[in-house]
Amino acid sequence: MAYSDKVLEHFKHPKNVGTLDKSKNNVGTGLVGAPECGDVMRLQIEVDEQSGKIKDAKFKTFGCGSAIASSSLATEWLKGKSIDEALNIDNMDIVEELALPPVKIHCSVLAEDAIKSAIKDYKTKNNLVEAES
Ligand code: FES
Ligand code: FES
Repeated sequence: MAYSDKVLEHFKHPKNVGTLDKSKNNVGTGLVGAPECGDVMRLQIEVDEQSGKIKDAKFKTFGCGSAIASSSLATEWLKGKSIDEALNIDNMDIVEELALPPVKIHCSVLAEDAIKSAIKDYKTKNNLVEAES
């Protein structure tokens, strides 16, 4: 199967690989796995307390090229967004941007799940979660 140019570009030169300090209150960490293939993705956001915008995002992905490209793209998109804007990132936007084929759609779902999971962690740490009914 051939990867698209954009996938290859992110795969060869992934943006924002790394780790943020989990002990900081303004850092949210998401860790998710894909049942389809066992790949694992960790994505972190750091929120600027003044503006409420995401000022940094990092990831580590143990997975296929599409999963790495999806998380690289996701971290690029996250920077500068508010939490609400970040929640609106849809995996199909990633599919479109990277021209992922159908068998690789779950790789982009992993990225969306990782974003949501990181935001949830951030909200929990900062008591921003509405009580679940
Ligand atoms: Fe092989 Fe995802 S299935 S890395
Ligand atoms: Fe499973 Fe890409 S994340 S093949």
